[in-house]
Amino acid sequence: MENSKTFSLNDHFLWGGAVAAHQLEGAWNVDGKGISIADVMTQGANGVERKITDGVLDGENYPNHEAIDFYHLYPEDIKLFAEMGFKCFRTSIAWSRIFPQGDEDLPNEAGLKFYDDLFDTCLKYGIKPVITLSHFEMPYHLVQVYGGWRNRKMIGFFTKFARVVFERYKDKVEYWMTFNEINNQTSYDMTFSLFTNSGILAKTGEDPEKLMYQAGHYETVASALAVQIGHQINPNFKIGAMIAMIPIYPASSKPADIFKAEKAMQIRYWFADVQVNGRYPDWLVKYQQNHHFDLDITLADLDVLKSGPVDYLGFSYYMSASVAASESDEPEYGYKENHKFVKNPYLAASDWGWQIDPQGLRYAMNWLNDRYHLPQFIVENGLGAIDQLEDDQTIHDAYRIDYLREHIRQMELAVAYDGINLIGYTPWGCIDLVSAGTGQMDKRYGFIYVDKNDAGHSTLKRYKKDSFYWYKKVIQSNGRDLD
Ligand code: BG6
Repeated sequence: MENSKTFSLNDHFLWGGAVAAHQLEGAWNVDGKGISIADVMTQGANGVERKITDGVLDGENYPNHEAIDFYHLYPEDIKLFAEMGFKCFRTSIAWSRIFPQGDEDLPNEAGLKFYDDLFDTCLKYGIKPVITLSHFEMPYHLVQVYGGWRNRKMIGFFTKFARVVFERYKDKVEYWMTFNEINNQTSYDMTFSLFTNSGILAKTGEDPEKLMYQAGHYETVASALAVQIGHQINPNFKIGAMIAMIPIYPASSKPADIFKAEKAMQIRYWFADVQVNGRYPDWLVKYQQNHHFDLDITLADLDVLKSGPVDYLGFSYYMSASVAASESDEPEYGYKENHKFVKNPYLAASDWGWQIDPQGLRYAMNWLNDRYHLPQFIVENGLGAIDQLEDDQTIHDAYRIDYLREHIRQMELAVAYDGINLIGYTPWGCIDLVSAGTGQMDKRYGFIYVDKNDAGHSTLKRYKKDSFYWYKKVIQSNGRDLD
């Protein structure tokens, strides 16, 4: 019988937590920061999409503008992470703090200084910063003037940004990732994901699928160039890809269901195929030809892709999904994300409808290992839930502990029995922050409660949840004590 208690993770295992700049920093227009795409997204609700406005408009509610004001309060927050025993802290660098418009020649010194101070504070406690270059927050000016990643010029803007921060933080940061959840834009028919991933709003008559393939191409080229630049600046850098890992299961053992799930996985993971293998998968070459997308992909680009493979695979894991074949499926399976998912009768879901599937994490790790043969880093995992701050200032989030415990158990089994080379584990939103999907504060993931809610109440005070003490014990025991 497999038992996760029969082993321990290695002593260098990177336990920590993950966040993204725009979801917690706030200070959206402070110290020279430019407007980012997250700054023009309003607050939504459970089941209500966020609006993307035409610039920052009076009278709209933009939750990322203040977020949890980590920009000013981070010394207190990092201290709390240290108290939990964090070995690493995953965050992103807000591109618009460094290049407020994105197309300037020179960076904004105040922005660079902020991350110097932040990283120094982490390092003071022995916490390694793990940094995403682009996490859903490119400068908005690049959207307005260049149309976002539909434009080849973005490769130059991104690599300039990457070079500047690699140079500046070469002695402070070892682990990097290029684009957060680069494959989320597979659901290109939802306006939201093309915008957050690539700063693209499809115009009337434009084919969002074609735009997604073009943006994805430029981004994978930019990612490969960034890997090369980073390794030149510091050969010890570990630069990873970052994908949203949602295993897509067949709804039944019917061969047509199984094949459809296989096609869905191909479509969802081609980005990582390119970033790891340095080449387009065969099915995608054919698919793009058959669709006459007429993309701007040059032979020189294909050489770049070959020469900048990533060092490791970072991924988020929250849930699994399932698909069923239907009579109308064509031989090519032009499958559209989200629209074709069916409910898995064996799984419960969060209040936001995300199916909870701890064993799916072990499945995912195996699938990724068989496909990519790279070290893995689980850089997001967690449960978004409503928490209650009690009168005595405690928060009893047993449901979050249960979720994390079961996922950690599966992660440990994957290391112990499946030979997965796992670098670390950083649960998402280790401190409550603004939800990327809905813009809510009430959808909480943290070990640390932040006193701010969707209705507008806000003291920004921090409180330790029950999960804070639990996670501290998990880290102290290097994953042995999960009770
Ligand atoms: C991932 C993102 O998609 O999931 C994060 O990388 C995001 O930015 C997280 O916050 C959870 O999603 P949500 O919509 O609950 O914030």
